Amino acid sequence: MISMFIAMASASTFMPPAATQVAKQLNHLYAFMLISSVISFIILVGGMIYFVYKYKRKTANDKTPYISHNHTLEFIWSFIPFVIFMACFAWGAYIYKEMRTFDENALEINVYGKKWVWEFEYKDGRKITNGVDANGKLEPATMVVPVNTPVKLLLTSVKLSPEDKAVLHSFFVPAFRVKQDALPGRYTALTFTADEKGLFQVFCAEYCGTGHSSMMAKIKVVSKEDFDAWVLGEEAGGAPKEMTLADKGRAAYAKWACIGCHTLDGSPSTGPSWKGLWGNERSFNDGGKAVADENYIRESIMDPNKHVVKGFEPNKMPTFKGMISDEDITAIIEFIKTLK
Ligand code: CUA
Repeated sequence: MISMFIAMASASTFMPPAATQVAKQLNHLYAFMLISSVISFIILVGGMIYFVYKYKRKTANDKTPYISHNHTLEFIWSFIPFVIFMACFAWGAYIYKEMRTFDENALEINVYGKKWVWEFEYKDGRKITNGVDANGKLEPATMVVPVNTPVKLLLTSVKLSPEDKAVLHSFFVPAFRVKQDALPGRYTALTFTADEKGLFQVFCAEYCGTGHSSMMAKIKVVSKEDFDAWVLGEEAGGAPKEMTLADKGRAAYAKWACIGCHTLDGSPSTGPSWKGLWGNERSFNDGGKAVADENYIRESIMDPNKHVVKGFEPNKMPTFKGMISDEDITAIIEFIKTLK
């Protein structure tokens, strides 16, 4: 009976399409909460109306009976809701864990929130942003991903131009039931596995200024074969291959003269080598520790003396704050990821 109710409510049209397992599970949880609320409402309000009639004063001489309490009844109306609340909590926690579990082999795509567009950058250097179609109509940036494949998005907010200021955005895909803030000067991550093909809407879910409502993009979920063809550039009419993100990082490594202090072969120089740096636990002179992830590398570039790696002298590296672009930092991170 309850499962029938859940199926009915899930299939109802008031929810956006559900194109991931997480979205489907969330629909079930939502339906469960909705149905248990409706049942509670009927019992509560129905009981109240019934009692209003049943215990209405019949004559002016009726005395109000003295009623104290009923342990059994009180226990039941506390315990049943408690069980329902705990079930919702456990169910929600289970789905949340699934939402935040990142697959190591996920397809990684960088997402940049700008005032006021979304931009996507693939590892092969392919960049996608808003375009215009043949009729001059705006075509929102469309991310292409293969179906049934875990995708990891690495989000950050960047400036559109050097005079600009980066602001907070939020990447929201209703059909996948996922949402993640994109913050200036920091990386955040989001993962999803679309199990249905189609074109899905992306919104910005954080008020970020005058262009907020037009900050839309799309995610196109295609078959694995179509995705491979798209990567090769066949669908895009053989788009010229750009430098890969890691190659851009290698170029930035030379351009910003990182090369003077950081080797790529594991031998120490003025600073630690970049070989094997990625994902490694770093110990600092001040006794602290951190795992070398995106935010650690970013901080090491912007504020190099905050955490100096054990055995290295402080104040050897200048800050690159205000000089290096967010794009170069992201590319350097990708380059470091390849230096296993
Ligand atoms: Cu970006 Cu709202």
